[in-house]
Amino acid sequence: TEETLVLVKPDGVARGLTGAILARIEAKGYALVDLRLVEPDRGRLEQHYAEHEGKPFYEPLLEFMMSGPSVAIRLAGNRVIEGFRSLAGATDPTTAAPGTIRGDLGRDWGLRVQQNLVHGSDSPESAARELDIWF
Ligand code: GTP
Ligand code: MG
Repeated sequence: TEETLVLVKPDGVARGLTGAILARIEAKGYALVDLRLVEPDRGRLEQHYAEHEGKPFYEPLLEFMMSGPSVAIRLAGNRVIEGFRSLAGATDPTTAAPGTIRGDLGRDWGLRVQQNLVHGSDSPESAARELDIWF
């Protein structure tokens, strides 16, 4: 079986959507293996988002991710990496399909970084790397 890192990002926690997001994950049938509330420091986020360093949204992204706690989840199941990203929907919550977490619960708030409620690892290599960063 496969594992992935899911984050309920600070906007999701602040808006009180952690339970709604967990309910969707559980209803889909994936297994919660570990879960913790984390207030990441800058170093942890620099590791997590290393691939985006230098992009225009990088600094706003780190600031946003330091604005409050996230819920980190170790999630397991066959093809859970692909499955959770499908459940999350497209990165831009304005155009993410209805029925997805971002499409149903997210929107554009006119900020410098997209606040899109959740993160999910995008490959087995990313999942292994990111799970080590958050757990
Ligand atoms: P994650 O699951 O959070 O990694 O989202 P993703 O894989 O769909 O997106 P990606 O890894 O490309 O980007 C990481 C995060 O940076 C996104 O979730 C957004 O919060 C933000 N982001 C990505 N692309 C843009 C962009 O073009 N503009 C802005 N403002 N923010 C972006
Ligand atoms: Mg990503």
